[in-house]
Amino acid sequence: MARPFDIEPVDATFGAVVRGIKVAELDEAAFRALYDAWLEYALLIFPDQQLNHPQQIAFAKRFGPLEFEMAALSNVKSDGTLRREADNDDMMKVLKGNMGWHHDSTYMPVQAKGAVFSAEVVPTIGGKTGFADMRAAYDALDATTKQRIEGLSAYHSLHYSQSKLGHQASQADGEYSGYGFHNGPVPLRPLVKTHPETGRKSLLVGRHAHNIPGLDRTESERLLQQLIDFACQPPRIYHHDWKPGDAVVWDNRCLMHQATPWDMTQPRVMWHSRIAGDPTSESAVAQAA
Ligand SMILES: [Fe+2]
Repeated sequence: MARPFDIEPVDATFGAVVRGIKVAELDEAAFRALYDAWLEYALLIFPDQQLNHPQQIAFAKRFGPLEFEMAALSNVKSDGTLRREADNDDMMKVLKGNMGWHHDSTYMPVQAKGAVFSAEVVPTIGGKTGFADMRAAYDALDATTKQRIEGLSAYHSLHYSQSKLGHQASQADGEYSGYGFHNGPVPLRPLVKTHPETGRKSLLVGRHAHNIPGLDRTESERLLQQLIDFACQPPRIYHHDWKPGDAVVWDNRCLMHQATPWDMTQPRVMWHSRIAGDPTSESAVAQAA
């Protein structure tokens, strides 16, 4: 059946631009076709949507229950003034931390399924969002590496990743909710993940991953960094240059993403709705204190 929208793959192993629809107005058949395309491409980009918050939340909920409905990722403070880079407050540390490649909520008991992300205000230069195809990354690994990592797992923690930027949970400054500083047992996740809907294998690493059981700390960090460096290279990456009104939806089970720098004397306002993972497939394999 012909798709009820135009779809144009981007120049990478994944990702496509979808035109000819308003995502807030999809009937069930169109949404099913869109969902199938999402499983195939893992990242769908929708130019010129101008979603308001209820529309974005409603669209995100069609992919499944939400982990949270709407969070601002912005250098604009609630009083309308710009957050100053030099102040290096907790939100700035979160914005900077997000510039490392990662999957969302691997540091929570259940990894996120995906996210709808939209642009309201964008800077003139920079502020792209990068995505990396961890299915293609896994496929491209040599046989020896595949064999080496098959039985390995890593712990995932926001405490770990943010501490590298000097961000401690106890220093919450009011505007950052502190979300993600999970204080329960630290989730342990395999380095090789099987997608619950497509069956494709992918690499699961990123900035929150650390401390592979069975490896010493140096060896663990070296292996995790090597895997990230290998994975996040063309043709497996795509960086989206936002225009106001753009929206995307990505599959967090098989893509990593990263923010990129911009001139923070210019405002940038982005909105994130996080789709909850299915506990049967996205739960940690084990947890340790
Ligand atoms: Fe993220």
